[in-house]
Amino acid sequence: MNDPVIAFLRTRKSALLPTLGEPGPDAGQIGIMLEIAARVPDHGVLAPWRFTLYRGEARIAVGEALAAIQDRRNGPLDPVSRKKELGRFSRAPLVVGIVSAPKDDPKVPQWEQFLSAGAAAMNVVHAATALGFGANWVTGWYAEDGEAARMLGAGEGERFVGFVHVGALRGETPDRPRPDWRSLVSDWAPVA
Ligand SMILES: Cc1cc2nc3c(=O)[nH]c(=O)nc-3n(C[C@H](O)[C@H](O)[C@H](O)COP(=O)(O)O)c2cc1C
Repeated sequence: MNDPVIAFLRTRKSALLPTLGEPGPDAGQIGIMLEIAARVPDHGVLAPWRFTLYRGEARIAVGEALAAIQDRRNGPLDPVSRKKELGRFSRAPLVVGIVSAPKDDPKVPQWEQFLSAGAAAMNVVHAATALGFGANWVTGWYAEDGEAARMLGAGEGERFVGFVHVGALRGETPDRPRPDWRSLVSDWAPVA
């Protein structure tokens, strides 16, 4: 089958963070990425997700805030650890934070809303890759840490499903082994 969309979906892979460089997506490309991110299955049309962009100088400020949190809790940080925290959001020109923002709804369980946020994150990866960029969805200690997540922009009842790092491809990433789907599927049969 020669369909380009199918070929894309069959071969997509993440790019290792050190292979991401300048330039990142421009404003128009970011708009396309987020338009695609918001086009995901969403039971009840609740839009139980939103996006935070980290770019330019803001990435430095975020790194400094993460280092400050770690310094206060576990410091003084050794130079290697400090450098790691300072650079967390500077490994690519653009980081898209995907925030799960579930709504109170009598018909739509929160579980379904979390899944929809995951789908939105995956669509950010797909859109960035389809635009020719490298992308990698990562979390990190700060995704689940209350203080850090608040600093990063999560509000009450919200949670980061991840941070998709996006940049120009500046190196090769070997593919990882993929599970054989045949070993993961069976036809339903009645339980004995
Ligand atoms: C929710 C979620 C969180 C992830 N967090 C990390 C992470 O913190 N660090 C990491 O190296 N990979 C992380 N990954 C894996 C990468 O996003 C990526 O899927 C993997 O490196 C390569 O898979 P791919 O080539 O199929 O995209 C995470 C994946 C998911 C779904």
